[in-house]
Amino acid sequence: MTENNQEYWTKRYEDDDIGWDIGGASSPLLAYFEQLENKALKILIPGAGNAYEAEYLHKNGFTNVHILDISKIPLANFKQRNPTFPDEHIHHKDFFKHKGKYDLVIEQTFFCSFEPDPMTRVKYATKMASLLVPKGKLVGVLMEISAMEPNEHRPYGATEAEYRTFLKPYFDIVVLEECYNSIASRKGDEFFGIFQKKEKPRTQKNNPLHGITLKTILEELVEEYGWEELGERVRINSFVTNPSINSSLKFLRRTDWAREKVERLYLRAFKK
Ligand SMILES: C[S@@+](CC[C@H](N)C(=O)[O-])C[C@H]1O[C@@H](n2cnc3c(N)ncnc32)[C@H](O)[C@@H]1O
Repeated sequence: MTENNQEYWTKRYEDDDIGWDIGGASSPLLAYFEQLENKALKILIPGAGNAYEAEYLHKNGFTNVHILDISKIPLANFKQRNPTFPDEHIHHKDFFKHKGKYDLVIEQTFFCSFEPDPMTRVKYATKMASLLVPKGKLVGVLMEISAMEPNEHRPYGATEAEYRTFLKPYFDIVVLEECYNSIASRKGDEFFGIFQKKEKPRTQKNNPLHGITLKTILEELVEEYGWEELGERVRINSFVTNPSINSSLKFLRRTDWAREKVERLYLRAFKK
């Protein structure tokens, strides 16, 4: 089973292995919602899980709240608890495939559910930005990790500097600070953030691969590992059978998953 797919998350719900679920809306988000005046804001909560925050918003007159999750189980739980919540606002979908435009996106223990490789983080930031209208906001609580801690197990947090680095190209960072009103078990472990989508995101500048061609990436990897080891690390035929830069480039340019793997390996090898 791969680490971040529908089966993985559904099994965690089936096994009731949901340590992240705090059983109610979280205090920092409630405090944020309480000062929102416009109840018609179009709001998305991706990776919503049992979506207690959406329940609060729905019960308090917010009319355009959407929840999204890759697993059906928490969405069905939510609908059972909130039968008047519109079905068309419940999205059973992979976040990265969802399309739409929102005024506000709410984050809670969603970012930290993805493995902490730089490409996924860039993908998360670009996707969040693409789901927001210009000047729309991404708001939420983000797991904190110190630069010294190994980041090997969920929740995969990040340091303040890391959050700034991958969000900065797309968002103005309005607030990113220690969360002062966390629930007791998360005190000192999370940031509160308000990020406002830039009108014109600098989409490329902070992309760690910006300006590096696929050819350079491949040549440097071959020099570092040699074809044999490269073929073991990324299992594609053109690294193993009569390997050459040209045939590999041809394959990688039309095969997204393989290209992504090669780019990840490059980032791990050279961009630490
Ligand atoms: C750690 S849980 C957090 C749930 C909820 N935000 C909370 O705080 O209780 C992560 C949630 O994200 C969902 N998820 C993981 N990957 C996803 C994806 N690619 N698209 C949509 N949902 C996803 C999981 O099913 C799970 O409900």
